[in-house]
Amino acid sequence: RLFETHPECKDVFFLFRDVDDLQRLRTSKELRAHGLRVMSFVEKSVARLEHSERLEQLALELGKSHYRYNAPPKYYQYVGIEFVCAVQPILKERWTPEVEEAWQTLFKYVTEVMKRGYLQEEKIKRTMETVEPKQASRRANNAI
Ligand code: HEM
Repeated sequence: RLFETHPECKDVFFLFRDVDDLQRLRTSKELRAHGLRVMSFVEKSVARLEHSERLEQLALELGKSHYRYNAPPKYYQYVGIEFVCAVQPILKERWTPEVEEAWQTLFKYVTEVMKRGYLQEEKIKRTMETVEPKQASRRANNAI
Protein backbone atom coordinates (compact mmCIF):
# COMPACT_ATOMS: atom_id res chain seq x y z
CA ARG A 1 0.00 0.00 0.00
CA LEU A 2 2.83 2.42 0.79
CA PHE A 3 4.09 2.13 -2.77
CA GLU A 4 0.58 2.44 -4.16
CA THR A 5 -0.13 5.68 -2.31
CA HIS A 6 3.45 7.01 -2.48
CA PRO A 7 5.21 5.48 -5.50
CA GLU A 8 8.20 7.82 -4.97
CA CYS A 9 9.19 5.64 -1.97
CA LYS A 10 10.20 2.96 -4.46
CA ASP A 11 13.35 4.93 -5.22
CA VAL A 12 14.72 4.04 -1.79
CA PHE A 13 14.19 0.33 -2.26
CA PHE A 14 16.34 0.54 -5.38
CA LEU A 15 15.39 -2.98 -6.36
CA PHE A 16 11.84 -1.71 -6.99
CA ARG A 17 12.62 1.61 -8.63
CA ASP A 18 11.41 0.48 -12.04
CA VAL A 19 8.74 -1.93 -10.92
CA ASP A 20 5.29 -0.68 -11.88
CA ASP A 21 3.58 -4.00 -11.52
CA LEU A 22 1.86 -3.69 -8.13
CA GLN A 23 1.19 -7.43 -8.02
CA ARG A 24 4.95 -8.05 -8.10
CA LEU A 25 5.39 -5.53 -5.30
CA ARG A 26 2.66 -7.15 -3.25
CA THR A 27 4.35 -10.52 -3.35
CA SER A 28 7.88 -9.16 -2.95
CA LYS A 29 9.92 -10.91 -0.26
CA GLU A 30 11.96 -7.75 0.46
CA LEU A 31 8.88 -5.62 1.08
CA ARG A 32 7.26 -8.28 3.22
CA ALA A 33 10.54 -8.47 5.17
CA HIS A 34 10.51 -4.69 5.75
CA GLY A 35 6.87 -4.86 6.87
CA LEU A 36 7.84 -7.56 9.39
CA ARG A 37 10.79 -5.45 10.56
CA VAL A 38 8.48 -2.50 11.13
CA MET A 39 6.11 -4.73 13.14
CA SER A 40 8.95 -6.15 15.19
CA PHE A 41 10.18 -2.59 15.84
CA VAL A 42 6.66 -1.62 16.96
CA GLU A 43 6.65 -4.59 19.36
CA LYS A 44 10.02 -3.51 20.82
CA SER A 45 8.81 0.10 21.11
CA VAL A 46 5.68 -0.91 23.00
CA ALA A 47 7.82 -3.04 25.36
CA ARG A 48 9.93 0.06 26.06
CA LEU A 49 7.07 2.49 26.70
CA GLU A 50 7.90 2.48 30.42
CA HIS A 51 11.59 3.11 29.66
CA SER A 52 11.49 6.22 27.52
CA GLU A 53 15.30 6.59 27.33
CA ARG A 54 15.62 3.07 25.86
CA LEU A 55 12.83 3.74 23.36
CA GLU A 56 14.53 6.98 22.36
CA GLN A 57 17.87 5.23 21.84
CA LEU A 58 16.22 2.52 19.72
CA ALA A 59 14.47 5.04 17.45
CA LEU A 60 17.60 7.22 17.24
CA GLU A 61 19.69 4.26 16.04
CA LEU A 62 16.96 3.33 13.56
CA GLY A 63 17.03 6.86 12.12
CA LYS A 64 20.82 6.59 11.79
CA SER A 65 20.56 3.27 9.97
CA HIS A 66 17.92 4.77 7.64
CA TYR A 67 20.43 7.45 6.66
CA ARG A 68 22.70 4.61 5.57
CA TYR A 69 19.80 3.01 3.64
CA ASN A 70 19.20 6.35 1.97
CA ALA A 71 15.61 6.44 3.29
CA PRO A 72 14.87 10.10 4.13
CA PRO A 73 12.52 11.31 6.92
CA LYS A 74 9.90 12.78 4.57
CA TYR A 75 8.61 9.22 4.01
CA TYR A 76 8.47 8.00 7.64
CA GLN A 77 5.03 9.47 8.37
CA TYR A 78 3.42 7.22 5.74
CA VAL A 79 4.45 4.08 7.58
CA GLY A 80 2.28 5.03 10.61
CA ILE A 81 -0.67 5.77 8.31
CA GLU A 82 -0.27 2.37 6.65
CA PHE A 83 0.08 0.68 10.05
CA VAL A 84 -3.28 2.13 11.13
CA CYS A 85 -4.88 1.04 7.82
CA ALA A 86 -3.56 -2.50 8.35
CA VAL A 87 -4.48 -2.91 12.03
CA GLN A 88 -7.83 -1.09 12.15
CA PRO A 89 -9.83 -3.76 10.21
CA ILE A 90 -8.37 -6.51 12.41
CA LEU A 91 -9.44 -4.87 15.67
CA LYS A 92 -12.91 -4.07 14.26
CA GLU A 93 -15.13 -2.59 17.03
CA ARG A 94 -12.21 -2.67 19.48
CA TRP A 95 -10.67 0.12 17.39
CA THR A 96 -11.65 3.33 19.20
CA PRO A 97 -10.63 6.98 18.75
CA GLU A 98 -8.43 6.56 21.87
CA VAL A 99 -6.66 3.54 20.35
CA GLU A 100 -6.11 5.46 17.11
CA GLU A 101 -4.74 8.47 18.99
CA ALA A 102 -2.39 6.25 21.01
CA TRP A 103 -0.90 4.66 17.84
CA GLN A 104 -0.62 8.00 16.12
CA THR A 105 1.20 9.43 19.14
CA LEU A 106 3.65 6.49 19.16
CA PHE A 107 4.40 6.82 15.43
CA LYS A 108 4.71 10.60 15.68
CA TYR A 109 7.24 10.21 18.50
CA VAL A 110 9.21 7.40 16.81
CA THR A 111 9.37 9.17 13.43
CA GLU A 112 10.48 12.44 15.07
CA VAL A 113 13.31 10.67 16.93
CA MET A 114 14.21 8.72 13.77
CA LYS A 115 14.46 12.03 11.93
CA ARG A 116 16.80 13.35 14.64
CA GLY A 117 18.99 10.21 14.26
CA TYR A 118 18.98 10.56 10.48
CA LEU A 119 20.06 14.23 10.69
CA GLN A 120 22.77 13.44 13.28
CA GLU A 121 24.22 10.74 11.01
CA GLU A 122 24.01 13.04 7.99
CA LYS A 123 25.88 15.75 9.90
CA ILE A 124 28.62 13.31 10.96
CA LYS A 125 29.04 12.02 7.40
CA ARG A 126 29.13 15.56 5.95
CA THR A 127 31.75 16.63 8.54
CA MET A 128 33.84 13.57 7.74
CA GLU A 129 33.64 14.36 4.04
CA THR A 130 34.97 17.89 4.62
CA VAL A 131 37.63 16.83 7.15
CA GLU A 132 38.93 13.79 5.32
CA PRO A 133 40.38 15.58 2.27
CA LYS A 134 42.37 17.88 4.66
CA GLN A 135 43.65 14.89 6.62
CA ALA A 136 44.57 13.16 3.40
CA SER A 137 46.58 16.17 2.19
CA ARG A 138 48.25 16.48 5.65
CA ARG A 139 49.20 12.82 5.47
CA ALA A 140 50.57 13.36 1.96
CA ASN A 141 52.63 16.37 3.16
CA ASN A 142 54.03 14.38 6.09
CA ALA A 143 55.01 11.62 3.70
CA ILE A 144 56.99 14.13 1.60
C1 HEM B 1 8.26 4.48 10.94
C2 HEM B 1 8.96 4.22 9.86
C3 HEM B 1 9.90 3.04 9.68
C4 HEM B 1 10.26 2.08 10.56
C5 HEM B 1 9.78 1.87 12.01
C6 HEM B 1 11.23 1.23 9.87
C7 HEM B 1 11.84 0.12 10.42
C8 HEM B 1 12.90 -0.58 9.85
C9 HEM B 1 13.65 -1.63 10.51
C10 HEM B 1 13.39 -2.12 11.95
C11 HEM B 1 14.59 -2.05 9.64
C12 HEM B 1 15.61 -3.18 9.92
C13 HEM B 1 17.04 -2.70 9.95
C14 HEM B 1 17.40 -1.78 11.09
O1 HEM B 1 16.98 -2.02 12.25
O2 HEM B 1 18.16 -0.83 10.83
C15 HEM B 1 14.45 -1.27 8.42
C16 HEM B 1 15.24 -1.40 7.29
C17 HEM B 1 15.06 -0.67 6.12
N1 HEM B 1 14.12 0.32 5.91
FE1 HEM B 1 12.76 1.00 7.22
N2 HEM B 1 11.41 1.70 8.60
C18 HEM B 1 10.61 2.80 8.43
C19 HEM B 1 10.47 3.54 7.29
C20 HEM B 1 11.08 3.28 6.08
C21 HEM B 1 10.79 3.94 4.84
C22 HEM B 1 9.72 5.01 4.67
C23 HEM B 1 11.64 3.42 3.90
C24 HEM B 1 11.73 3.71 2.44
C25 HEM B 1 11.10 4.66 1.81
C26 HEM B 1 12.48 2.45 4.58
C27 HEM B 1 13.49 1.73 3.98
C28 HEM B 1 14.26 0.77 4.62
C29 HEM B 1 15.34 0.05 3.95
C30 HEM B 1 15.80 0.24 2.50
C31 HEM B 1 15.85 -0.85 4.90
C32 HEM B 1 17.01 -1.85 4.70
C33 HEM B 1 16.51 -3.08 4.01
C34 HEM B 1 15.61 -3.89 4.91
O3 HEM B 1 16.05 -4.23 6.03
O4 HEM B 1 14.46 -4.16 4.50
N3 HEM B 1 12.11 2.38 5.90
N4 HEM B 1 13.40 -0.39 8.58
